[in-house]
Amino acid sequence: MTGASAGIGRALAGELAAAGYTVTGVARDEERLRAAVGALGDGHTALTADLATAHGRARVVQAVRDTRFDVLVNNAGVAVTGPFADVDLDTAVGMMELNCVAPVTLAHAYLAAARPGDALINISSVLAFAPAAGLSVYSASKAFLTSFSESLWLEHRARGVYVMNLCPGITATASQAYDGDDVPASMVQTPEQVAATAIAVLHRRRRPTVVSGRRNTVFAAAMRLLPRRMVLRMLGAAQGPPS
Ligand SMILES: NC(=O)c1ccc[n+]([C@@H]2O[C@H](COP(=O)([O-])OP(=O)(O)OC[C@H]3O[C@@H](n4cnc5c(N)ncnc54)[C@H](OP(=O)(O)O)[C@@H]3O)[C@@H](O)[C@H]2O)c1
Repeated sequence: MTGASAGIGRALAGELAAAGYTVTGVARDEERLRAAVGALGDGHTALTADLATAHGRARVVQAVRDTRFDVLVNNAGVAVTGPFADVDLDTAVGMMELNCVAPVTLAHAYLAAARPGDALINISSVLAFAPAAGLSVYSASKAFLTSFSESLWLEHRARGVYVMNLCPGITATASQAYDGDDVPASMVQTPEQVAATAIAVLHRRRRPTVVSGRRNTVFAAAMRLLPRRMVLRMLGAAQGPPS
């Protein structure tokens, strides 16, 4: 489970541990990770690695090869906001390393040895369906992850390995603090709600893409069904006139 020390990853690690899985949590901040993994109970493991770097990914790939995991969760991700040309290029590329290169690298190691009944969960976003100004690289990274995950779902279905593309909407985590001024409270889910959706779908294993929450499901369906130009116009209007 990558990004197990906070937010959605921490909540999902808790759900998995409660369901009887032994969790290996991955994150950079060792102290915070150890605290989160320790709170799961005995027998769970912390593995520190920076997944935005080749060295960090290699550490986790080694663990995936050395240990038998029933489920791999690619959850760690970051959203950098701002007009694209104003975002530092290294920061934008680092976001792609974490949001795209890390899930591809870990999925490759995991699926090579996966057995029937195993599962890969990739945490994408409803922004996979909505090209967002001010979040251009992030929404593109999630569109990549969603397309990648759906292809994998199809490829691995016949061998009994389930691939889930989980798309949360706005979720109240420490890194994404939403106050009621920006977004109506009814639009915001808790990490626990997203984790509960993931676990329920993991048991059923029917669909490749799962959107968390009813309002987010309607939003994602509209983004997929409407003509692209209309979507772009709507999202532009929601953002307001350029400043
Ligand atoms: N929150 C939302 O509104 C929302 C909506 C849709 C989708 N999502 C997606 O859900 C996932 C989790 O989001 P979140 O809001 O729960 O995140 P979060 O609260 O910021 O937690 C991120 C987790 O990932 C770890 N992490 C960050 N950078 C890392 C790196 N370079 N290498 C290894 N671990 C790293 C963090 O620990 P360290 O900092 O110690 O490394 C932490 O455990 C992301 O993929 C995000 O894009 C979130």
